[in-house]
Amino acid sequence: RAFLSPNLSTCHQSLTDADVPIYCCPPKRESEEPFIDFQLPDPSLPLRVRRPAHLVDEEYIAKYNKAISIMKSLPYDDPRNFMRQANVHCVYCSGAYDQQNSNNTILKIHRSWLFFPWHRMMLYFHERIVASIIGDDTFALPFWNWDVPDGMRIPVMYMNGSFADKDRDTSHLPPQVADIHFDYVESGFSPQDQIASNVAFMYTQMVSGAKKTELFMGCPYKAGDEGFCDGPGTIELAPHNALHTWVGSNLNPERENLGAFYSAARDPIFYAHHSNIDRLWEVWRGLQGNNKGEIHDPDWLDSYFFFHNEKLQLVRIKIRDVLDITKLGYAYERVPLLWLNARP
Ligand code: C2O
Repeated sequence: RAFLSPNLSTCHQSLTDADVPIYCCPPKRESEEPFIDFQLPDPSLPLRVRRPAHLVDEEYIAKYNKAISIMKSLPYDDPRNFMRQANVHCVYCSGAYDQQNSNNTILKIHRSWLFFPWHRMMLYFHERIVASIIGDDTFALPFWNWDVPDGMRIPVMYMNGSFADKDRDTSHLPPQVADIHFDYVESGFSPQDQIASNVAFMYTQMVSGAKKTELFMGCPYKAGDEGFCDGPGTIELAPHNALHTWVGSNLNPERENLGAFYSAARDPIFYAHHSNIDRLWEVWRGLQGNNKGEIHDPDWLDSYFFFHNEKLQLVRIKIRDVLDITKLGYAYERVPLLWLNARP
């Protein structure tokens, strides 16, 4: 069996995308904490509906804003602290943990089939933490709906209060239309042409270029010294990576914050960006029909990771635990899929 899992006693210095050493391990070794196994939330709790960030109302924004500022002010020892949350991403993206039962082989959650489920887990715990901080079980993260024209810019809510981040490319702030396949070079397109190009690109990434499960989900990364594969799925490469880069500051060496994985989740827009990624995973699965897009490999299903929940408990969670979002208690508001019929 070759499922992946971290060896919690190994958290160590790791490397940024540009191979600069960094340290983002928790202050106390997680191997010294007891852990519990994940349990699905009580099905009688209200369904949490994630909505497009450009459509949420002022009351919602005010509540969420307050939660983030509370999280930013919590002590770093508290896993709900905003920077600690960002560093969960850093730890798993930069190879700070070695794999369980393997020889100094690091664990990474990008560029393979771990991408979608791992980020779903991270958002799940983060969302529950925000909900508990504001005492509202209906709280759901917003999603940055960059696949519809009205959503193809940084949602205005992310410009203010605790959602703001000064480390963004200032030429990409709203109303600039996002280039969802940005590759470090400005497209120079008019807003209309950029939108048309984005819609056509979505069709490629979701439909024509993603006809096989592995093309969309990424390659099968297995445990062990030879197990890594480097094959990101269509959406992971772009718009996912592309928008990280597009938002991050061109004045910083690795386009921090959003532009570098170690710092990405310091920008609150990270959670809205990933909420859309998570939504598109659901959309893609729906498009395959008859469960054709599912992965049945037990090595994937049994891979597990650790997160702190809103009660500060360390939780072990497996990929098989997160494949049904209804059971996780959330849903996505339905939005038009304009790109679906945008065959070039
Ligand atoms: Cu783990 Cu958007 O990156």
